[in-house]
Amino acid sequence: MARYAHITGWGMAVPERVLTNHELAQMVDTSDEWIRSRTGIGERHIAAPNESTATLAVEAAIKALTVANLAPDQVELIIVASATPEHIFPATACLVQDRIGAVKAGAFDLSAACSGFVYGLNMAAQAIRTGSMNNALVIGAETLSKFTDWEDRNTCVLFGDGSGAFVLQGSDEPGGILSAVLRSDGSGGDLLIVPAGGSHLPASTETVKNRQHLIQMNGREVFRFATRVMAQATREAVQAAQLTMDDIKFVVPHQANKRIIENAANQLEISLERCLINLERYGNTSTASIPIAICEAAEDGRIQPGDRLVMVAFGAGLTWASLVAQWSGPFPTKHKVYPAWYRVWARVSSLMRRFRRHVEGLIWGTKEQG
Ligand code: COA
Repeated sequence: MARYAHITGWGMAVPERVLTNHELAQMVDTSDEWIRSRTGIGERHIAAPNESTATLAVEAAIKALTVANLAPDQVELIIVASATPEHIFPATACLVQDRIGAVKAGAFDLSAACSGFVYGLNMAAQAIRTGSMNNALVIGAETLSKFTDWEDRNTCVLFGDGSGAFVLQGSDEPGGILSAVLRSDGSGGDLLIVPAGGSHLPASTETVKNRQHLIQMNGREVFRFATRVMAQATREAVQAAQLTMDDIKFVVPHQANKRIIENAANQLEISLERCLINLERYGNTSTASIPIAICEAAEDGRIQPGDRLVMVAFGAGLTWASLVAQWSGPFPTKHKVYPAWYRVWARVSSLMRRFRRHVEGLIWGTKEQG
């Protein structure tokens, strides 16, 4: 029997601190008028020093599990898509796994920049469809503010921090993720890049001095690329699901620039009302932008079970991706679970595992020395 991967839970988190265009205008040579007219962005959320990609990911994950009424120990796979992971390694997904108490989950990070959440949803859906697992958590989480060059007006006005998470669950009922299109073009890798900190250009005083650990972008080229692929990828995913644009309630575009979204809507010959747009309040949150837009629409009732959506994203790589999903909502369950409570136990058991490792290290260390 065919298996289907349904979206049964969703959650989002953004830092409390809001940075307005007016504040930015005091930091670099720009204005609220310029940013709004060229991008559609009005403000963005910025992580506090004690917030990171993992902390935002954990918050969104717990909310998504609460909506799905799924206990963390039932999760079998965690994918964190991020352009701003906690470390080069370990994977941010493993830190999330530990902090939410997902004791039976495999966990890995996915690097496809702003397209990462759509890539991740498709990977998790494929795993569920094969029947090898039933419950997966896909998270898009970013603290782009920590990689932003706050002296570069070409980029610092665009980005914001946040996270969004979906729970995917398997069922024999048709629905859920219906099709996906994943693409890349590495010849444009230099158009949007953090040049240093990897094996190509390891960290040195020189790289820090040259600000090479921060985001660099050719805005015009990225803009041209985005307008070329958005509508095309949307059409391909709809066709692959054997649907037409009339079957689609909302297009959920990556929230990078309102003019890019308008251009895509024009090419698709759909009204802007059929696009979910919230970048005015969040800026570009990369992998988190699509799940945050969907969370808001699901929470205020614009998205209802049975509605079909196209998610379409583009980003560094270059990468782009689109996906058609039929909205499901939580599966019926017998007992209420409280995923947030697992965090306390997860913390205790994590400390216990660390302690055991420490003690074992002392014992084995002594033996070896002896
Ligand atoms: N405030 C004021 N002026 C600014 C500015 C800012 N924040 N940023 C750039 N400018 C200036 C430029 O220096 C340029 O000046 P010049 O003509 O004297 O050189 C002028 O505005 C116009 O620059 P241009 O690049 O043509 O503007 P644009 O209309 O293309 O808008 C972007 C710039 C970055 C908003 C736009 O190219 C864009 O959104 N690109 C896609 C970026 C993106 O989405 N990246 C993330 C992908 S996931």
